[in-house]
Amino acid sequence: MTSLPDVWPMAALRVTCGDLTLQFLDDDLVLALAVLGGQGIHDPSYLPFNSAWSKGSPIEVTRRVLAYQWAARGKVAPEDWQIELALVRDGEVLGVQGAFARAFPVTRTAETGSWLGQRHQGQGLGTTMRLMMLHLLFEGFDAQVATTAAYADNPASQAVTARIGYLPNGVDVVAREGVAVESRRFLLSRADWSVQPRPEVTLEGVEPVRELLGL
Ligand SMILES: CC(C)(COP(=O)(O)OP(=O)(O)OC[C@H]1O[C@@H](n2cnc3c(N)ncnc32)[C@H](O)[C@@H]1OP(=O)(O)O)[C@@H](O)C(=O)NCCC(=O)NCCS
Repeated sequence: MTSLPDVWPMAALRVTCGDLTLQFLDDDLVLALAVLGGQGIHDPSYLPFNSAWSKGSPIEVTRRVLAYQWAARGKVAPEDWQIELALVRDGEVLGVQGAFARAFPVTRTAETGSWLGQRHQGQGLGTTMRLMMLHLLFEGFDAQVATTAAYADNPASQAVTARIGYLPNGVDVVAREGVAVESRRFLLSRADWSVQPRPEVTLEGVEPVRELLGL
């Protein structure tokens, strides 16, 4: 019988670090992630994202996370991909780590973004899951550059970025809920990545995903 990974290699992609894995958001994990999102990602008076999808009632946020992840699942073309992986420990979904790229076979550049359920924040998980995704990008996909961005008033995200050794890469002024705010961009080169102290990370199922992404 044909299994999902036979036709959709993303389903068998796994990044492991200690008791943490980044893995494909299958139907069960995506529901658990959406429910986690509905339970709260940040203080309601704040918005760390480019749109207000994370604000509203638990059911509204849950449905938006589901719809967003369902749309992302199919975006795997070499010229435009989005990889969203659940952070899982002991079968529990703690958050999601994403990476996005356009024309990656040419640019070898990808942007990352992530969130954790509020109760899982501030315990080092955000740093670890970013390092796990960077390992996939640099070691698994031969990236040359990883980029990320955060609002000036998001100290946790910027602290993760600074600790990993990204360099400042400019500033955008964007409208967030009708108010101009500074979005800071950061860049991590392959050379800077290679000299960072990193935890032991293992990759599984990368080769068929490389083929899917035109690498
Ligand atoms: C951003 C996020 C993924 C980081 O994950 P995390 O597990 O909370 O982060 P970590 O525990 O690995 O590290 C947090 C760092 O931020 C620092 N930090 C956290 N809150 C802070 C604050 N209010 N002021 C200053 N520093 C702060 C911590 O001290 C730590 O720095 P250190 O490594 O130098 O000690 C997580 O907080 C989150 O999901 N936030 C809501 C969504 C979000 O902002 N997503 C990113 C959008 S750009």
